[in-house]
Amino acid sequence: MGFYSQELVEEIRSRSDIVDVVSGYIKLQRKGSSYVCVCPFHNDHNPSMNVNRPRQMYYCFSCGAGGDVFKFVMDYENLSFPEAVKVLADRAGIALPEREDSREERESRDLKERILEVNKLAAQFYYYMLRQPDGRQAYEYLTGRGLSQETIRSFGLGCSGKRGNELYQYLKSKGYSDSLLKESGLMNADEKRGMYDRFWNRVMFPIMDTRSRVIGFGGRVMGDAKPKYLNSPETRAFDKSRNLYGLHLARASRKPNMILCEGYMDVIALHQAGFNQAVASLGTAFTQQQSVILKRYTNEVLLTYDSDDAGVRAAARAIPILKDAGLRARVINMEPYKDPDEFIRALGAEEFQKRIDSAESSFFFELRILERNYDLKDPESKTAFFREVSGKLLEFEAGIERNNYIEATAARYHLSAEQLRKLVSQTGERLGGMPRAAAPKPPPGRKKPDDAEPAAQRLLLGWMSADEKHFRSISRYVEPEDFTDPLCRKVVELLREQTESGMFQPASLYQYFTEEEEQKKLSAALGAQIPVPDGRAEEEKALQELILRVKQQSIAWQTENMEPGDMDTLMKIVRKRREIEKLHISLD
Ligand code: GTP
Ligand code: MN
Repeated sequence: MGFYSQELVEEIRSRSDIVDVVSGYIKLQRKGSSYVCVCPFHNDHNPSMNVNRPRQMYYCFSCGAGGDVFKFVMDYENLSFPEAVKVLADRAGIALPEREDSREERESRDLKERILEVNKLAAQFYYYMLRQPDGRQAYEYLTGRGLSQETIRSFGLGCSGKRGNELYQYLKSKGYSDSLLKESGLMNADEKRGMYDRFWNRVMFPIMDTRSRVIGFGGRVMGDAKPKYLNSPETRAFDKSRNLYGLHLARASRKPNMILCEGYMDVIALHQAGFNQAVASLGTAFTQQQSVILKRYTNEVLLTYDSDDAGVRAAARAIPILKDAGLRARVINMEPYKDPDEFIRALGAEEFQKRIDSAESSFFFELRILERNYDLKDPESKTAFFREVSGKLLEFEAGIERNNYIEATAARYHLSAEQLRKLVSQTGERLGGMPRAAAPKPPPGRKKPDDAEPAAQRLLLGWMSADEKHFRSISRYVEPEDFTDPLCRKVVELLREQTESGMFQPASLYQYFTEEEEQKKLSAALGAQIPVPDGRAEEEKALQELILRVKQQSIAWQTENMEPGDMDTLMKIVRKRREIEKLHISLD
């Protein structure tokens, strides 16, 4: 690397969603929670390549090509790493530093900095105005809506002037040019009036990015005038699709979830009531970029959109976007109130917590909406409904989760789980499911190895999968049968096959393990923290101890599980015992 800072590379990565990038080159097909396509790195006609949004990784089941978004661009366009960085930076509209910069790019970056500076002054000005005689009405409006001093302070709430040019005068006095003030979105200009404030006689909500920089504003009228809310336009500093209101506070909330709502006032009311994990999209529909951002901070999002039709529709649109990013979603029922702000003012925080605890899974929320399109009393319509439900059930990765939902759905509609399961697999076949590799079978034996064993086995596996050279040398001393843990054993077998076919690629093993539990174990093994001994001799010694431990465990397990009188196995065990006495590891 060298060329660019790690921070910049990560910034570019975070703005280069792998699904978006790959789909710019190849046609992607949705497949459950991920995407598949024909692999561009080998001669193929089947959709063997999997592009996984939550992991931001791709890999080809067939040829083993895999990696992150940079690797994809490098390989596809045949570029060096710095060149791929440049391609993705340009695509994301991120300026690269110094000599790689064009003059244009530099100026655009400077413009953003200057807009942020003006915004900060504007926020301070609005905040100050709220304590002036002209701000009295706004102040009473906010406190009248139940906001405390502390809340007003922590959200930096303020108000704009009544004449419509106070901010302009103030910023001019600070020496800012008309052209910059126009770019900031804080001013409008027309021939009659010249420059004037965009926000006039409104309560002002500064919008901050995760670094607490003011990137824009929302302004609310204090009465019933229209538009109720006026927001900053998009500027060099304000990208509505990549920011969330309240996130700068919510990201530090340490709550097990994030609450997603519609309005600024909802976020503020929730924070004041102690739900400081609340955020809102910025007066526009929830976007895919926002979901990826939320995924950095949480695994579960609770939706508290308005209870009216528009809110329900907005929630229904947000759910697939959340799922796509690998987030779990649940929907909070606020009936009979319209939004969380009203709910909390009427019933208080404790009642809201109860609604959080009983929030409905997004799946059943979606089913209830789906139901409206069908007449469940009509047999034909009912069948069509269940077909559609089956399609939705297929979106769950196979395994425990899908099974649980099949059972819960069957119970809800008074169907037998068997019937529904059948319908789901029929639907899957009709939609042309890709065959999934079977999960590894447990080794023969009656007793399960205890939990302490896999830890050593996983560590050894981590060592073996570090690179091909390690795999080859360690394989001389260890065979798959030495692993009593079925998953570890399977992984060693697969890695051995990969080595034999000349494509050592541990990251591609995820295809063989479809259960989330297994994938986690696999990640744990492949990512096992291998102690880094200083020097070859030290490493050999550490490895020798570990291999001995694994082999002894294996012998103990076999002895315990042996059929009495099974002479073959007994002989094998005896032979193994002798072998490990003579074991001497060399990494040559
Ligand atoms: P109040 O409680 O009445 O202050 O509003 P709210 O927080 O309940 O908001 P509401 O549900 O009416 O709207 C949700 C969000 O949509 C607001 O926070 C704004 O971002 C946006 N919004 C609402 N009304 C308007 C409007 O008239 N124009 C624009 N551009 N955005 C609006
Ligand atoms: Mn409201």
